[in-house]
Amino acid sequence: MKLCMIGTGYVGLVSGACFSDLGNDVICVDKDLIKINNLKKGIIPIYEPGLEELVLKNYKNKRLNFSTDLINSVKKSDIVFICVGTPTKKNSNKADLSQVYTVGREISKSINKFKIIVNKSTVPVTTGDEIEKIIAKKVNKKNFSVVSNPEFLREGEAIRDFIYPDRIVVGSNEEKSTRILKNLYSPLVSKGAKFQSTKRRAAELIKYASNAFLATKITFINEIANLCEKIGIDVEDISIGIGLDKRIGSRFLRAGPAYGGSCFPKDTKAIVSTGDQFRTNLSVIKSVIKSNKSRSDLLAKRLSLILKNNINNKTISFLGVTFKANTDDMRDSSSLKLIPYLSKKGAKIKYYDPTGSKKEFDKLKNVEFSKTIKDSINNSDVVILHTDWNDFKSINFKKFSKNKKLIIYDMRNIFSPSKIKKLGLKYFGIGR
Ligand code: UGA
Repeated sequence: MKLCMIGTGYVGLVSGACFSDLGNDVICVDKDLIKINNLKKGIIPIYEPGLEELVLKNYKNKRLNFSTDLINSVKKSDIVFICVGTPTKKNSNKADLSQVYTVGREISKSINKFKIIVNKSTVPVTTGDEIEKIIAKKVNKKNFSVVSNPEFLREGEAIRDFIYPDRIVVGSNEEKSTRILKNLYSPLVSKGAKFQSTKRRAAELIKYASNAFLATKITFINEIANLCEKIGIDVEDISIGIGLDKRIGSRFLRAGPAYGGSCFPKDTKAIVSTGDQFRTNLSVIKSVIKSNKSRSDLLAKRLSLILKNNINNKTISFLGVTFKANTDDMRDSSSLKLIPYLSKKGAKIKYYDPTGSKKEFDKLKNVEFSKTIKDSINNSDVVILHTDWNDFKSINFKKFSKNKKLIIYDMRNIFSPSKIKKLGLKYFGIGR
C-alpha cells in the first residue's frame, strides 16, 4: 500500500520505517527541511535503538522516502497518517491540537481520490470528528474517511513494540476503512497481535485510558514503596507477589523516581481535562498526578536525611538523567527537579548519561558532565542511579572509587542491597 506519514517524530518515523519494512511504499513528511535532508543522509533526529538501520535499509531499497511536500505526498498515497505533536497548552491542562488541525486543513487541499486519514497523534475524544469537519469543508465525504489508530510504542522499545504489539486498535465509523487497515496490519496480526475494531471516539479514549492506567499502576507501587521503607521490607517482593496475580500482571510495577517522559504527564492531565469537559470527576487520575508531582520532593528529602541534612559541599555522581533508560529524552525527567534542588543546596553534581551532556543543566552552578561513569563516580560522596541503563548494572564501585564511605542511592533498585553492603558501602534503594 502507499502510505504517507505526516510528522517525523517518534511516532511518524518509527511507524513509517516499520511499515516500509513490512513491504509498503512510505513517504515521511515534515515541514522541517533540515530534518528531511538529514534523514535522506541517514541522520536520525532521535535516539531509538535499531531505527537507524531500519531507515537506511528501507531508504536504500526505495520503499521509504522523505519529503517536505505534504500536498504531493498525500496525493500519491492511499492512507495518510497524522503523527504530529499534541503538547499540553500553556496555562491549561488541555492538549494543544493546533498542529493536528493545521495538517487536517493541508490534507483537505490534496484529496484527489478516496483516502483514509488515520490519526495516530494522541488526541482527546471528538478530535476525529473535528478533523472530519475540517476536511469536509473542501472534500466530498464519499472521498475520505477519518480513522483513529492510537500508538502504544514506548521510547527505547518502539520498534519491538511496533512489530510485536499486544493489540492494534482501529476506531472507525466505516467498515470499509477498518477492513483496509486490518489488511495493512495483517502481517502483525498473523504473528499474534490482537486486532480490536471499535468506534472512533472509543479508540481515542482507549489511548488516554491506557496511559492513565499505566501511570496509576506506577504511582500505586511508588506509594507502596514509601510504606515499605517505613516498615523495613523490600517493595521488589511486593511487586513480584502482587504481579503474579494474572488480574494484576507484573509489568509496570517497578518502583522508582517520579514517572516522566513526553506521554504520561501530558496525557494524564489531558484526560482529566476531557473529564471536566464531559462533567466527570476523574478523581483517581487527579490524585495520581498530585502524588507523582510530589515524588521528586519526597526523594530529595530522603537524600537529605541520608546525608544528615548536610548536602552543602557534597559531591554527587548522578548516573542517567533522561526520564528513563534507552532514550535521550529529557522531557519531564525527574532529574530536572532533583539536580537543580541539589545544586541549590550547595552540592557539586557530576552527571553521566550514555546519550551525552544535556543543555538543560548548562546554566546550573556546580553541575558538570562527566565523560565516563568512572569520572563521575571518582571522588564522589554519593552515587545516584537515576535510570537503569545496562551500562550501570555491572559497575564495580570499588574499582571506580577509593571512597570507603561511598553512599549508593539506587533509584531503580538495580543492585542487590546485600551485595553492596558486603563491599562495605552504604546502600539505599526505593522501597527497601
Ligand atoms: C508510554 C507508554 O508506555 C506507551 O505505551 C505509549 O505509547 C507512550 O507512552 C505514548 O503515549 O507515546 P514512554 O513514555 O515511552 O511510553 O515510556 P514508559 O516506558 O511507559 O515509561 C514512562 C515513565 O514511567 C518513565 O519515567 C519510566 O521510568 C516510568 N516507569 C515505567 C516506572 O517508573 N516503572 C515502571 O514499572 C514502568
